[in-house]
Formats: sequence, C-alpha cells, structure tokens
Amino acid sequence: MHSLPPWPYPFWIAHRGAGKLAPENTLAAFRAGQARGFRMAECDVTLSADEQAFLLHDATLERTTDGHGPTAALPWSALSGLDAGAWHGPGFRGERLPQLSALADHARASGLLLNLEIKPSPGRAVRTGEVVAREAARLWVGLTPPLLSSFETEALQAARETAPALPRALLLKRLEPGWLDTALGLGCVAVVGHHGALDAAAIAGAHDAGLRVLSYTVNTTPEAHRLRAAGIDGLITDAIDHFDLGAPV
Ligand code: G3P
Ligand code: MG
Repeated sequence: MHSLPPWPYPFWIAHRGAGKLAPENTLAAFRAGQARGFRMAECDVTLSADEQAFLLHDATLERTTDGHGPTAALPWSALSGLDAGAWHGPGFRGERLPQLSALADHARASGLLLNLEIKPSPGRAVRTGEVVAREAARLWVGLTPPLLSSFETEALQAARETAPALPRALLLKRLEPGWLDTALGLGCVAVVGHHGALDAAAIAGAHDAGLRVLSYTVNTTPEAHRLRAAGIDGLITDAIDHFDLGAPV
C-alpha cells in the first residue's frame, strides 16, 4: 500500500467556475462561486489559433459566445472581442473569454485554487498540454499549483514533460480495464471519475495505489453522501447554492 500524496485542495470544487449560476468559464463565474464560499474551481482551458491559452469548454463558439465556428480557427485578437456572457442573461452582457493569465491574476488576488482541465480542440492534445502546462507553471509561481486534469492521455503526457512538478489528474468517464495503470503511468496524483463510475472498491483501489479520487459532476445530496461514505477526496459540483460547504456531507 502506498501513502497518499499531500493534498492542498479543499473538498468542494465549483464546476466551470459557478456551475449554472453564471456564464461558465468567465471571471464572473469564479466570483459567483467564491461569493458562495467555494475556495476552488474547475475550468476548461483550450488554445486559440495562435496558441494563446484561454477558457472555453466547447470546440465551437456558438453555445457560450456570440462567435461562430471552430474555437481553434480564430486568433486571440478575434476571440478576445467576443461576448461570453449575454447567452446566460442580460446581466452578464459584455463578459469576456478570460485568458489563462487573467485567471492567474484573479487567483493571485483572491486566493482561489484551480483545477485546470486541459480541453484540446480535436487533433491538438499534445500542443494544448504543452502550452497549458508551460503557462500554468509560469503564471502560478509562488501560489498553490493548479491541479491539471484531462480526459486526453496525450495532453497529460505532454504536460508532464513540460512541467513535471505540476500535479496531474486523469479524467475518466468510466473505469475501463487498466485505468489505474494508465493514471500511474502518467505520474498522476489523482483520478477524477464520473460519479456513476465510482464506488468504494474503486476508490480504495486508487488509494492503495497512492492516488486521490475526485468526482464530477455531483449535484445531489444523496450522491454526495454515497461518495463521501465510499471515501472520495473531493467533489466537483454545479449545484453551488445547494450544499452546506461547512458541514460534512
Ligand atoms: O473536469 C470535470 C468535468 O468538467 C469534465 O467534464 O465536459 O464538464 O468538462 P466537462
Ligand atoms: Mg471541465
């Protein structure tokens, strides 16, 4: 049995900044999550055509901005002018896509801890892993390092080679055969599993191998109770105004 790695992160993590209460992956979202007591947020980081790291979930722009087409087709000069808030509600009109550097500035000023999900556009896993890791290592100097996570093993391997000291986590939609060996082979400190894929045996197996276990996206009290009883180390949630963060679930 291995010992578990040091863990500077809190149990509760706000998904995409503030779940559904503010436009996801914007600075307004991080502020909304923090206003409700969250000390850590998950967000999605991708690359512009000219390899600037910025926050967006989708590979296309339509759902969460007033832009059109593939995210990776536009340079940052074009992306930076898009409205990333009006789709959510008129009160957020004018909210911009944040560069990773703007998020780091916010983290430095406010103490927010981050889980940066490396979210490559199709075909750009290696380069996205490299750039996000390089920028995270540079921007978070002197702060608690962000936890880098990804579904894409190539992105995590590239992040490892670029900034080996930054902690990494493998995202898992389901527990395919070999999932634990894959995470260990990438030098991860954690796995982040879909809540439906995790039970006490899987969590104990990961703990025995020296990995922490987080889960996404956990939005109900019974599921939070189940996972806490099963030994989970942290929960990523959209339900940022539902849980009592100060009480054991
Ligand atoms: O990082 C956990 C979760 O964000 C993964 O799914 O699609 O919401 O980025 P998704
Ligand atoms: Mg995500």
